[in-house]
Amino acid sequence: MFEPLVQNGATSRGALMAAEIAEQPAAWARLLREGRAAIDAVAREVRRYTPRFVLFVARGTSDHAALYAKYLAEIQLGLPAGLASPSTMTAYGARPDLSDVLMIGISQSGGSPDLVHSMRVGRAQGALTVAVTNNPDSALDEAAELAIPVLAGPEHSVAATKSYTAQLLTVFLLLEAIDGRRTDAVHQLPEWGAEVLALQPAVAEAATRYRYTQRMVLTGRGYAYPTAREAALKLMETCYLSAHAFSGADLLHGPFAMIDPQVPVLTVAPDGVAGTALRPVHDQLARTGADVLTVGSPAHLASATVGLALPEGIPEALSPIVEILPFQHLALHLALLRGTDPDHPRGLRKITETT
Ligand code: F6R
Repeated sequence: MFEPLVQNGATSRGALMAAEIAEQPAAWARLLREGRAAIDAVAREVRRYTPRFVLFVARGTSDHAALYAKYLAEIQLGLPAGLASPSTMTAYGARPDLSDVLMIGISQSGGSPDLVHSMRVGRAQGALTVAVTNNPDSALDEAAELAIPVLAGPEHSVAATKSYTAQLLTVFLLLEAIDGRRTDAVHQLPEWGAEVLALQPAVAEAATRYRYTQRMVLTGRGYAYPTAREAALKLMETCYLSAHAFSGADLLHGPFAMIDPQVPVLTVAPDGVAGTALRPVHDQLARTGADVLTVGSPAHLASATVGLALPEGIPEALSPIVEILPFQHLALHLALLRGTDPDHPRGLRKITETT
């Protein structure tokens, strides 16, 4: 049974995360209203530069936004793209030739020293550097030649939520501006977001299934794979459970053997290629008798133990922006059920400084 879990104002456990999850449709609407000028200005510079490769540098949640952006760059821009391993430049002192490379640093805080260091090296090695952050005064913005704010507003919960989806929308808008395209459907995102947030009672109910769960597996393919990764991170940091995320293809190449009815599996199966490509995984999960929660298109929910339906008609490339919302709520409600505080996970601070 769903009950409002935030009862005592801002001091309740999870109150910050709950508020920041709820703010997302408004944050996207703000970005669509106020963020285009900065995005279009950067897109013009990128077009002039004509990159041959896109290199993303990011950590944690922001790394999942970078993974989404890698799919976008390869599929929509037709450019090869990759995720940097910052230690090659910071710890090993590598100085690769980065001419003709567009280097995009993604970070909510813009404060982690390894990102800043990598960005400086990238710039010195010939890359066109762009910082995408939720903090326009950050060291990362300073280090990069160009910067775009994601305009999510201050984020106080340690578990990043609204900064993540604002990063996704920003990179979507940037890459389509580089390509000279406009997708009208972006303006429906706030409405779709509100619809998906309204699944909260069903998500809170589903959370009760996992109260004592120690291990989970998450999976998605294509554009939905970053969602599986980000959902796993949210569950690990807020609920202290072991959550492994795999692309649906990789899952079948070995890790599937660890799945039995005691290991819940969470899948992401939106409309489009990603959902269709996950069918063999869903079929095999059904044969195994696995306990499966699926967030996805109604067409892909038939074999799920719990199905959470996304609105129909969301273009696949935009779906990650809304399909993460039920997982954010799941992490919030499960953390509260397990007695942890998702706003202040043990051993974590809002800005993680790695070198
Ligand atoms: C997870 C979370 C972290 C940060 C990561 C990177 O909820 O907040 O994973 O995303 O520490 O930090 P930024 O994005 O500030 O570079």
